[in-house]
Amino acid sequence: MTIATKTSTEPVSKTNTSVDISHSRILLEKLAYNWHTRAQVGQVRKKTESALSDEMSFDPMREDFRLDLLPFKEHPDFLSAPLELKKKALSCGWIAYNEKTIDIEARVIAPACNHIIYREIPGVEDSASQLIAADTLVDEAYHIQLVVNACNITRKHRQLQDLRLPSFALVKQMEREKSRHAEPWKKRLVQMATAIVSEVFVSDYLSLLAYDKEIQPLNRLTVYTHLRDEKAHHSIFLQLAKCIYANLSVEEQVFFAQVLPKPVRWFADVELEVWGMMLQQIDFPNAQKIIGDTAADTEVDLIRVDYSDVIKLAKELGVLDSAPGADSFAKAGLFS
Ligand SMILES: [Fe+2]
Ligand SMILES: [Fe+2]
Repeated sequence: MTIATKTSTEPVSKTNTSVDISHSRILLEKLAYNWHTRAQVGQVRKKTESALSDEMSFDPMREDFRLDLLPFKEHPDFLSAPLELKKKALSCGWIAYNEKTIDIEARVIAPACNHIIYREIPGVEDSASQLIAADTLVDEAYHIQLVVNACNITRKHRQLQDLRLPSFALVKQMEREKSRHAEPWKKRLVQMATAIVSEVFVSDYLSLLAYDKEIQPLNRLTVYTHLRDEKAHHSIFLQLAKCIYANLSVEEQVFFAQVLPKPVRWFADVELEVWGMMLQQIDFPNAQKIIGDTAADTEVDLIRVDYSDVIKLAKELGVLDSAPGADSFAKAGLFS
């Protein structure tokens, strides 16, 4: 993907930051005010009442996940495996999709919200930002509950109660990046950048299943419910990013510009270590070969994620007009 952009190599300067902060603040206040009407957690009673509907019951004949989302879907050893095992791999895919969602909520978004609530991030120390971070924490806690429930149902019906997954690449790489820096402010900005990119991407990630009428109806409904909140979070985190960036020092802006593209690649990781462990646990034939061959093809698949909103954000912040920002986005393969 080639993105046409200005390639000025001017260093980051506060004066070239053309972010409309007043608009972002007004929008954040509106989003915080609307939380009671839009938040899906407020609809719990209605959902409980519909829990007995057909849509909420498990249909063993339906597949749990989409075949085209498996990174090794075209590998000959996968295609020639018994149908029952292929179906079990799809159930594993659904569980991994959900556990990655839990990782995003609990290890990426929640700590970022807590930094805002504790007023540790420049530009978002105001009461509206605090409230919106608190609202987001409630949303994400509800999403974890939704996802844990969906996983438990799948594990029970598919005899996958003992399936164990390692950490996901997104969190591992974020923690590795944080550990490279001694300064607490750098660790916080890595966390914030990862949260911003994740919240920009998570709607697309959920859209992959939210409208799919072929998969298990309960799974589709779970993802659809989650997506309705994440559409709001998408806007919230874009506005938070603008408020934060405009209030960073020049040194902090340079660091943020260098970090921002990295989570795009972390998010695009196809999680082969997780897949390898899952396929081994369900005794999938030639699991190691399937994973090894797929790793040789592609481990980070940027085509799978639409990062145009991250590029748009970087442009709006002025990150791509700076030498460190333009270099880091080019190094991440996000534009040439
Ligand atoms: Fe969420
Ligand atoms: Fe979210």
